[in-house]
Amino acid sequence: MTQLRKTIAVLPGDGIGPEVTNAAVQLLKDCAAAFGHHFEFREYPFGGNAIDSCGEPLPAATLAGCRSSDGVLLGAIGGPKWESLPFGTRPEAGLLGLRKQMNLYINLRPIRLRPALRAISPLRPERLGDSDFEIVRELAGDIYFGEHKITDEKASDLAEYSVPEIERVARYAFERAAARKRHVTSIDKANVLASSTLWRNTVTALSREYPGIALDHQYVDNASMQILLRPTQFDVILTGNMFGDILSDEAAALAGSIGLIPSLSRGDKGQPALYEPIHGSAPTLAGKDVACPLGAIFSAALMLRESFGLETESQWIEDAIDRVLDRGYRTADIAEPGARSVPGSVFTAKIREQLRAAPAAGGRSGSTA
Ligand code: IPM
Ligand code: MG
Repeated sequence: MTQLRKTIAVLPGDGIGPEVTNAAVQLLKDCAAAFGHHFEFREYPFGGNAIDSCGEPLPAATLAGCRSSDGVLLGAIGGPKWESLPFGTRPEAGLLGLRKQMNLYINLRPIRLRPALRAISPLRPERLGDSDFEIVRELAGDIYFGEHKITDEKASDLAEYSVPEIERVARYAFERAAARKRHVTSIDKANVLASSTLWRNTVTALSREYPGIALDHQYVDNASMQILLRPTQFDVILTGNMFGDILSDEAAALAGSIGLIPSLSRGDKGQPALYEPIHGSAPTLAGKDVACPLGAIFSAALMLRESFGLETESQWIEDAIDRVLDRGYRTADIAEPGARSVPGSVFTAKIREQLRAAPAAGGRSGSTA
């Protein structure tokens, strides 16, 4: 039995961020109690609330806390209150700064459909099939981090990639595919963009090191159509920062709600990774106890699996969620038309009930770490 001690930095953020991270932390505490782990949670201001309390979206103490943690759990940031601030000082700048400062160059967004929720997908079942794919998005380069220039008359944003930046994220995609259906689809705009041409050439050259993995390429415009027409063709999608941002929202829609999708952001092995739902801060829902906590809870489960090697614990949480969904409980955004929904806090309580109903077998850990 491996009992782990881990420090988790919690960045609740803005809007519904605090509600959903609170739900995830409750479940992580249940997990620690059931399996005999010790998780220490340290909370830090980040995003809009940090602008209000500390004058900047990413205070130095928050960054230091994240860097010295074993994993970071983030809610969501931003809101109308901070939208009129000058470019580069908004909550979003804090998020980009955190990604850059923590060297989080890989972003993984698993698009997995929950069996009980297939009916909320906007795609017809025959198209949806058994869709299950992962998006590997480069997170520290591209037009996001190239030079941004703006005057009253003119503006420009520079999209840049270097071979090492492409290789390090592409390696991760090939490794993910090796543990799945051994298929990588690299998405770019190589018919127009120089940065995409380098991307395609680099990924193609690297693929020779992974002879067992099938690689194909799609232009991003075609890919956005293919995701809707035939999502079952994808196993691991590999793409740059900008296209990954857009395609991951589109892909999340397949699952029925962006509120369901977790993410992992990481850099080199051994460095702390960051976990967050891919949804935003949804200011209009905040404080009403209607937000779906599943994106944050799946993110916590992903942290257990990917950062701490706790496969059994992660599965224990995901199974409890599926049982709650099987019993018909929904929050508003994942309720089928006409179905009854419960407040977010009730939904979380139902999951905790299921965790108690299926106690960890003898408190034994599935850790391989
Ligand atoms: C995301 C978000 C962020 C991004 C925003 C909030 C800066 O949309 O994580 O997908 O564009 O990367
Ligand atoms: Mg986005």
